[in-house]
Amino acid sequence: MPQHLPPLPSPLSLAVFLSGNGSNLQAIIDAIDAQTLNARIVVVVSDIPQAYGLQRAQEHQLVTRILEKSAYPNRATYDLALAEIVHQYQVDLIVLAGFMRILSPGFVQQFTGKIINIHPSLLPLYPGLHTHERALENQDKEHGLSIHFVTEALDAGPMIAQARCAVLPEDNPETLKQRVQRMEHLAYPQVLQWFADQRLHLKANTVFFDHKPLTQPLSLDYP
Ligand code: GRF
Repeated sequence: MPQHLPPLPSPLSLAVFLSGNGSNLQAIIDAIDAQTLNARIVVVVSDIPQAYGLQRAQEHQLVTRILEKSAYPNRATYDLALAEIVHQYQVDLIVLAGFMRILSPGFVQQFTGKIINIHPSLLPLYPGLHTHERALENQDKEHGLSIHFVTEALDAGPMIAQARCAVLPEDNPETLKQRVQRMEHLAYPQVLQWFADQRLHLKANTVFFDHKPLTQPLSLDYP
């Protein structure tokens, strides 16, 4: 039986959290500009003042907020400040795009089903850092990305989608990263649009897509 969800405001209000280059932020900005993503970025948050992603945001006249770790006595107070920003800008969905901080259980619980992450591996393989190096070390034949809702478990929340690519004999970590990132820049806006279209939601730790529980991640394949 179809579930009736409360209507989301249109367009979807996104907060993007990042710590670095921000190529995924750029892909989201580009998708919004191209009108393939019905959303607006209401705030970009970084813990690193020099993050290039902040510059990208400013070039597009987006609101930016810098929350440096050193300005807060502990994770709980840091995350309270983060939560305040989310409320202040009336964010519908928090998009983690290379945000290199672990969110506290209190923050995650407060926004369950409203935090999404992209990770550069085929989870549950390689949570954490250096995923491309680890795939090469293990001589994996394929590698890829995962997009999931964020729960308290690091890189292990309920899975939404994955995209795969071949690992080539001549690959090094940089070439493999580039291949995965090219897919990231297509996959993340696509999944966000599903959320905007209310095709995707989380209930009782289960991901629903088109009102049906997902038993395995949706497969996004790019030639
Ligand atoms: C991406 O590879 C993403 O999967 C991971 O962090 C990286 C961020 O890259 N979570 P960028 O800053 O968006 O270029």
